[in-house]
Amino acid sequence: MSNSPAAVEYRIRSFIRRQGRATAAQKVALETLWEKYCLDFNQTYDFTAIFSQKAPLIMEIGFGNGESLAKMALANPQLNYLGVEVHRPGVGHLMMLLEQHALSNVRIFHHDAIEVLEQKIQDHSLAGVQLFFPDPWQKRCHHKRRIVKPSFVDLLHKKLVLNGYFHAATDWEHYAKDMLGILSASDKLVNTSKNSTYCERPSYRPLTKFEQRGMRLGHGVWDLIFKTT
Ligand SMILES: C[S@@+](CC[C@H](N)C(=O)[O-])C[C@H]1O[C@@H](n2cnc3c(N)ncnc32)[C@H](O)[C@@H]1O
Repeated sequence: MSNSPAAVEYRIRSFIRRQGRATAAQKVALETLWEKYCLDFNQTYDFTAIFSQKAPLIMEIGFGNGESLAKMALANPQLNYLGVEVHRPGVGHLMMLLEQHALSNVRIFHHDAIEVLEQKIQDHSLAGVQLFFPDPWQKRCHHKRRIVKPSFVDLLHKKLVLNGYFHAATDWEHYAKDMLGILSASDKLVNTSKNSTYCERPSYRPLTKFEQRGMRLGHGVWDLIFKTT
């Protein structure tokens, strides 16, 4: 592995592996559907060939239980989706939904999204990257774990097609401001918001599980949508 500053920075992971118990149904999905939907990090894939259709590829980082990703995939059959999540029960939950809705436009990596981006995705091949409600790492001493940092923006730019988009949403104002500062400072991305700040939640983004929990607690929500230049 490289020892460049970016690589060292990435070794501070944006997650801590939680064991979390899978429900009985998620366990069945994990046992029976893995081969059908999950990709093997040790293999090399041609993403234009593994889906049943040739279509723009959208990557979602940290899909949680996958409810919103499954809704998007159902609403947009003309797009292919690559979901990346380290929480195993969430992978099981998404596979259940994919099977329930007979969705063929989603594949999953159960792996660290940074390593997937670095090692499995060809440069300038993603039409979009979505990051909905990333772990906010609220304490100051944990801010270094936040996934959005300058080196992440460089990686995004390398993997997105020209005019590709990065869409993040958070219910933690400090992280929203932090992301806005980091994304705006990059000369490789342009803010699509009219006032160069936040966007209204676009109709294509369903409410996520984490977001709904935050809303019940009275949290605000900030969407950021940037495009590559
Ligand atoms: C706060 S949850 C939000 C889940 C979902 N997007 C939602 O809004 O309900 C953040 C998720 O990101 C996942 N995650 C964090 N860092 C990740 C990484 N580097 N690669 C893959 N998943 C990651 C966590 O496991 C967790 O499920």
